[in-house]
Amino acid sequence: MKRYEIKHLLKEDVSALIGTEINVKGWVRTKRGNKNVAFIALNDGSIIHNIQVVADPVQFEEQLRRITTGACISVDGTLVSSQGSGQAVEVQAKTIEVYGEASPETYPLQKKGHSMEFLREIGHLRLRTNTFGAVMRMRHNMAYAIHTFFHERGFFYFHTPLITASDCEGAGEMFQVTTLPLNNLPKKEDGSVDYEQDFFGKQTALTVSGQLEGELGATSLGKIYTFGPTFRAENSNTPRHLAEFWMIEPEMAFYDLDSLTALEEEFIKYCVQWALDHCMDDLEFLNKMIDPNLIERLRGVTATNFVRLPYTEGIKILEEAVNNGHKFEFPVSWGVDLASEHERFLVEEHFKRPVIMVDYPKEIKAFYMKQNADGRTVQGTDVLFPQIGEIIGGSVREENYDKLLAAIDERNIPMKDMWWYLDTRKYGTCPHAGFGLGFERLMLFVTGMANIRDVIPFPRTPKTAEF
Ligand code: 4AD
Ligand code: MG
Repeated sequence: MKRYEIKHLLKEDVSALIGTEINVKGWVRTKRGNKNVAFIALNDGSIIHNIQVVADPVQFEEQLRRITTGACISVDGTLVSSQGSGQAVEVQAKTIEVYGEASPETYPLQKKGHSMEFLREIGHLRLRTNTFGAVMRMRHNMAYAIHTFFHERGFFYFHTPLITASDCEGAGEMFQVTTLPLNNLPKKEDGSVDYEQDFFGKQTALTVSGQLEGELGATSLGKIYTFGPTFRAENSNTPRHLAEFWMIEPEMAFYDLDSLTALEEEFIKYCVQWALDHCMDDLEFLNKMIDPNLIERLRGVTATNFVRLPYTEGIKILEEAVNNGHKFEFPVSWGVDLASEHERFLVEEHFKRPVIMVDYPKEIKAFYMKQNADGRTVQGTDVLFPQIGEIIGGSVREENYDKLLAAIDERNIPMKDMWWYLDTRKYGTCPHAGFGLGFERLMLFVTGMANIRDVIPFPRTPKTAEF
């Protein structure tokens, strides 16, 4: 019997199949009925909606006893126009095979709603809930949208290494990669670890960003983007930080601050519009169950212009707010790194739309950002979003060899691992720019989920690496 995915049966024109025999397979969401008829709501993951299977309780007595929420079954039956409301077609069962039972005594996903905290403890099963199904289908769609966006604009997908010897962000938040025996480390005469005996012959770690290698791609291929996992050993237990997250990092030769921020804005709007165009079933579910303003907020972002706001002006607005009695947990003054409460104030209360903040004090930004003529600021950009705070971080890159070298020196970054990066400025240097979008921050925005642990299949955070 030919198997049809439930999405096909509910979304395509299947009038020619009505009255014929087909097969459906999936996991049972619910079973109900009476002594005359049994209804099984079946879901196969292809779509948020279930197909209804109608079964004769006498004929299928044995199977129906074994069929409970979570069981996996295969049904051969006649596709018929549905009598009930809510779905166009249903399946009248002729044969039912039970692939796998799910004992109601122990199967943790029963009909009732579960808390997100509880679902994290059963991360191996939570994917079978409607919410996580919706989030994961949208995650796929967003990844596809991102590749499409860049491909259509002539960017090349460029693969940068996960194991590296350089700390791009200079924050010292790297997970070391080693094959040295931790209980018996080889030491040099001065007592320090002898990394020459390590696998790569030097100290290495998981990358915090593909940008430095991405710049090598952009200064040869013109426009590239990376899309891969990124690792940060920062001990931040917040709803917006993961130790392993995915980042998209485009890097473009001959872009300046204006073309950079224009691309940032166009890119996010494209992704959000894609969600509205391709994920409406899942969005409607999330809008109903998770966040009643979700769809409205997504439409709002695609329709507004993002504010361009110099850091110095942003600080003035925040200081004014403090003078007018607004209470922030962290102090505000020129030079501070903005906390997410400050970013959200600007976006949610002051401007009421996304803000691209530019021209940050050089002390709070990474070494590679282009230095402005004022000697105090650099051409960094952060895109700040409602609910999320920072969703993108990027900059124009310092292309002047001497200025870049000075910035590296000032921060005491070890030069020995940077020679290849500096060569881009030594040979045929060019103005260029790029940014990094945190994929899970985008996922938070488009799904309305509140915690970043719930928009990645298997989150990695301090003290958790289960599943
Ligand atoms: O601002 P960040 O640190 O910038 C960079 O890594 C640059 N090298 C990017 C570039 O210019 N090519 O990180 C970029 C984005 C942030 O705006 C945020 O969305 C996300 O990555 N991000 C995280 N997402 C989840 N968990 C974390 N711990 C994150 N740290 C950063
Ligand atoms: Mg940043």
